[in-house]
Amino acid sequence: MARMIIAGNWKMQNDINGSVELVSGLAAGMPAKINCEVVVCPPFTSLETVYSLAKNTKISLGAQNMHFEDSGAFTGEISASMLKSVGCKYVILGHSERRAIFGESNDWINKKIKKALSSGLLPIFCIGETLEERESNITFDVIKKQVVEGLKDITAAQMADIVLAYEPVWAIGTGKTASPAQAQEVHKFIRTLLSELYGAAIAAEVTIQYGGSVKPDNAAELLSQPDINGALVGGACLKADSFIKIIEAAK
Ligand code: 13P
Repeated sequence: MARMIIAGNWKMQNDINGSVELVSGLAAGMPAKINCEVVVCPPFTSLETVYSLAKNTKISLGAQNMHFEDSGAFTGEISASMLKSVGCKYVILGHSERRAIFGESNDWINKKIKKALSSGLLPIFCIGETLEERESNITFDVIKKQVVEGLKDITAAQMADIVLAYEPVWAIGTGKTASPAQAQEVHKFIRTLLSELYGAAIAAEVTIQYGGSVKPDNAAELLSQPDINGALVGGACLKADSFIKIIEAAK
């Protein structure tokens, strides 16, 4: 069985003060018994501070991006070892905002996934179709290309360390979430594809999160789908109480 992971992607939100307030609120409000791993992904500037406040709690730390080179003249970039050195366990890679706004290709994302793995970081590898692609009935083709190219040369053993996040672009930040059936259909397609690539046993263990307008009032139904093993939450993770309600919805 794949493990359930609820992650909060803070995106470009929260300076140090806001970050301290949010992670302190989460730590204080975390239920004694939870049925999932909880991850927060603050901006780079808050990683170290959030780690220091979260390290003795049930909250793990993730970053939102990284570069695939080890070091060098790459102004503005952050390496895997830098993320490790401030306590990151996870790193989000291939988010649709990185793909659409910053032009990241499947090839770049593949390089980043390999570097994260070889550096001991667990990638949260994001995929998802646009509204235009869904309306043109090419959702499965788009997802297949993103998965196959993003995971090029990744071995079955490495696959066990990768989390996938299905985030339909049309559902991100729009309040228009995929219906549980729509999401389950794509999650099942992804797991079948992983099964063809890596075998059924590995595919069954891979956590596939859903992301896109996950809120306290829709989380339980989404998370109860057989192939949905967690959530990657944007807007609703920015308030401790709503993120905690989503964590509580994970059974
Ligand atoms: P929203 O939850 O705000 O739709 O964002 C989802 C997302 O992009 C998480 O990575």
